[in-house]
Amino acid sequence: MTPFVDELPRPRVISGTTLSLDAAVHRHQFHRDFDAVPSLGFGGDHYLGPTIECHVGEALTLNFTNRLERHPLADDMDTSIHGVTEDHRLAPPSSLHLHGGVTPPGSDGHPLLAIAPGRSITHHFPNEQHAGHLWYHDHAMGITRLNVYAGLAGQYFLRDEFDTGREGNPLGLPAEEYEMPLILQEKIFTADGYQSVRSTPIVPQGSWEGGAVGDVGVVNGKVWPRMNVARGLYRFRIINAGSYSVWNLHFSNGMHFAVIGNEHGLLDAPVRTTSFRLSPGERIDVLVDFTGFRAGDAVELINDEQPPFQAAMLGEVAMPVFCRFVADSRRGFIGTVPNSLRGGARQPSALPPLEVPTVIRTVTVSQPYALRLPPAIMSLNNLRFDSTDIEMPRQGTVEQWDIVNITPDPHPIHLHLVMFRILGRAPLKTLEYQAAHPQPPIGYKWTPAADEFLGGPMIGPAPWESGWKDTVRIDGGTVTRIIVRFPTAEELGFDPDALFSPDDPAHPGHHTAAQQIQGYVWHCHILDHEDHDMMLKYRTVR
Ligand code: C2O
Ligand code: CU
Repeated sequence: MTPFVDELPRPRVISGTTLSLDAAVHRHQFHRDFDAVPSLGFGGDHYLGPTIECHVGEALTLNFTNRLERHPLADDMDTSIHGVTEDHRLAPPSSLHLHGGVTPPGSDGHPLLAIAPGRSITHHFPNEQHAGHLWYHDHAMGITRLNVYAGLAGQYFLRDEFDTGREGNPLGLPAEEYEMPLILQEKIFTADGYQSVRSTPIVPQGSWEGGAVGDVGVVNGKVWPRMNVARGLYRFRIINAGSYSVWNLHFSNGMHFAVIGNEHGLLDAPVRTTSFRLSPGERIDVLVDFTGFRAGDAVELINDEQPPFQAAMLGEVAMPVFCRFVADSRRGFIGTVPNSLRGGARQPSALPPLEVPTVIRTVTVSQPYALRLPPAIMSLNNLRFDSTDIEMPRQGTVEQWDIVNITPDPHPIHLHLVMFRILGRAPLKTLEYQAAHPQPPIGYKWTPAADEFLGGPMIGPAPWESGWKDTVRIDGGTVTRIIVRFPTAEELGFDPDALFSPDDPAHPGHHTAAQQIQGYVWHCHILDHEDHDMMLKYRTVR
């Protein structure tokens, strides 16, 4: 495949207070040299979905219809995974989750409430939260990895009066054609150009893969595209919408990014950096200055981080290149990177001092090897998704979560419903920790405190990840600390602990046995991991 020949597509934008989207099978051409191959998309798009633009304070009613039929990755469904049946190959369930949304539980796309083809569900998104970069994607039980990989993801921008809302653009940020989402994915293609999730020959077809590490970079649905840029400032809203890998992103010429925001809005001041790491599910908002470019000058967005487990197994597999930017002779957005974004007299700080936690909760990230080899099952708290031994934080309480990762690999942890800040990361004396607290068989909760087993000081977040987050990279062999406040029903305007069930008129399409569901989920955002079984339910209680 020749790189940089396809133009970087700009996702179309939709907005309004009532919208409808379906999920359907299409065909998509990933590269000029490929034929169009089966893919999934939202809202009639062949791959991915339109960007939804919303304004803080204006609720969105989103009607979602599952129109899926034979899945492009039908042969990769693993019916030994929780929640996956033979029927899913020809009639895949789908659930739409707004990642980062402060959303009533019945609208949150709970994996157990995925709807069958032919069914619809109405989601209510209040949009009563910070402006920021959210995204929506499939969340069906056991096949999220295949549904998202095949194309079921889209961006959701929430704007306000500070951040390029309709009131104007007080910070003078690049907008409209100078603001571009970069939806980064890694992909594997078969020799005849079909999408594949088989990255290791060790795992047989139809088995859970454990981590579909791609060797081809896909941006906004195109393989190694190019974007012609005008000489001026651009705002790129970057997401790792990939399956497995953490990327260390930088430009081939070493030029700077000015990071202006994280998942949930702008930082107080831009952070200049030549690189940053982004794990699956994380977003970052950057300004990039092409003013000094002459027509024809080009620069690539590249990655130099190897996925550790696969790299150890297979040798060099990292996917180094995403896309190329080529300057033309146009004069673009004239403006400079603002010195400050929030805080001061005009606008409240986006990053108030951290509240003092009253609860310290330890949770664990591990890969118990007992059940299948290879690869292993992945687990949180040494439990499986079915467990009823779940976390139940009190509403209105500020908690510190010590997330203990005894594996050698990074896992991005995402909590639904809430936003949090990173306190820091410290190395874990993993062997001592395990020796003092032997890990029981999977199914028995295992969350020993790690304070006595830190191998060094807690290092605060990198400046470019110091804002409001909903997904955090938990490096291998570390304890990562976050601080999170669980809001009350009064603050939310809805009951986050309401029971909902398939008998609800809101959930007519539930495809499994009737059950009552309460609360949300938290999980690893490596798509393979959340399917098996690195995802747990949680509730916030009064
Ligand atoms: Cu991006 Cu539970 O999801
Ligand atoms: Cu994981």
